Parts: sequence; C-alpha cells; structure tokens
Amino acid sequence: MIRMGLQWPHADPPVRPAHTGDSRRRQNEMAEQQIAFLRSLPIFHDLSDEALNYLATESRQRVFQAGEIVCYQGDPGSTCHIIVHGRVRVFVIGEDGQELSVRFLGRGDIFGEMALFDDLPRSANVEALENTRTLELHRDVLFGCLQRSPALALSLLRALSERLRYATEEAGGLASLTVVERLLRRLQQLAEWAGTPTEDGVRITLPMNQQELATLIGTSRESVNRALVQLRRQGKVRLENGWIVLVDGVP
Ligand code: CMP
Repeated sequence: MIRMGLQWPHADPPVRPAHTGDSRRRQNEMAEQQIAFLRSLPIFHDLSDEALNYLATESRQRVFQAGEIVCYQGDPGSTCHIIVHGRVRVFVIGEDGQELSVRFLGRGDIFGEMALFDDLPRSANVEALENTRTLELHRDVLFGCLQRSPALALSLLRALSERLRYATEEAGGLASLTVVERLLRRLQQLAEWAGTPTEDGVRITLPMNQQELATLIGTSRESVNRALVQLRRQGKVRLENGWIVLVDGVP
C-alpha cells in the first residue's frame, strides 16, 4: 500500500535523543551527503530537491561484508537497494545445484526492485563481492517517488531495458560461442568494469577462483581450467600474482 498523499510528505521528524548540537550537525551532514550522492546518479538527475530530500531521509544505510548474502532467491522482498560503494553479484542456483552468475552491479546501480514491481519472491540471490554500502528503500517510498516523477519512472525503465538487453545478448552468446570464447568475452566485460591498466593490458581486480569463473559462463571448473590454459597459450591472458591480466586489454 502506498502511504503518501499528493504532496511530498514531510519525513517523520528524526527521533532526538538528548543529544548535543554536534550529533544533530552530523545527522544533517549525513543527509546532505546522501542527497549529493543521489543527485550524482543519472537515474535521479531529474528529481526535484524535495524528492531527493525525501528519498535521502526515508532511506536506510546498510553495510554488507564481503561474501555476505544481501537477499536470497525465493524470499519475499519489500525493499530495494542503491549501491553507494562496493560491488555485488547477482546469481541463481540451477536445477543441477550449480551457481550461475547473472550480473555484477556496482556504485549507483539499483537491485531488489523486481520483487517490488511484480510482488513475487526475489528472483535471484545477491551477494556482496566486497564490503558494500547501500541505501535501502522501502517499496512505499520508491512507488511514491515513481508516482510523482515520470522522469524517474523513465530512468528506471531505461535501466531495466538495459538489463534485459544484456540478458538477451548473453543468451545469444551462450547458445553460439564456445567455452573459450564465452570465457574471453566475460573476462573482457570484467576488465571493462573492474580493470586496472598494466603495461601489456588490463588486470581484472576482482578476486576470482576458477569455480567462480565457471559460474560466469554456466560451465564446470574443469572446463574453465582447460579454457584458461588455451587462452594463456594463445597469449590472450596471463596470470600475475593470482590476478588475471587480459593481454592487450579490451578490444
Ligand atoms: P529481486 O528479484 O527483488 O531480487 C533479486 C534482484 O537481482 C532482482 O530484484 C534484480 O534487482 C536483480 N536481478 C535479477 N535478475 C537480474 C538480471 N538478469 N540482471 C540484473 N539484475 C538482476
């Protein structure tokens, strides 16, 4: 149920313990930082100050440790998250018990919105890949903003279309590419997303073992091992202190 009237509701007054001006100042500074962060994201660019203020006041800061599961596939969900800092992995467990990584998301990305829109359980698991901070928004808050801001609705639709487009391209790739080609393509995507330039290419700065790489392309660890050997022989990939370097970088 949406609990907002026609105007932007005034956020509930903050609960004020008997505190000094200092802690109030800190609270105000935090709210200002959150508003500045939200304003910096393309999805919220067109939102009025009033709307941003409302979002910032009504959201909750959450912190997740690397490896922590933020939400589980199949659970009910009434909130979504905007990533302030860090990275998460969206993954599902196949019928055979194998993990398939669907997408990596980072700063400014939103997740957990699907269960809010279709009122169904969470469609996937979301795991923090590194220490991650999010702003958590309740369904009522997001829906209230969407009702008032067609620009926000359009931005969100654009973000969801991009995900669908990506998923469609991935499905095409899975059907037509070999394991070696799929792995190389995924490594190139990771290098674009989380890469550091080296003298001869790009180092992928995500700690990943072969099992985790296997979840990226829906195959076994053994197949990834063989594909990596082949890519190294072809000079397309090398290992540097356990990190994967994509030689010549991303085409
Ligand atoms: P929800 O279903 O509520 O919880 C899991 C979240 O993972 C989901 O919302 C989306 O935010 C995200 N998610 C699920 N599938 C994909 C996908 N194919 N691409 C990107 N994100 C996804």
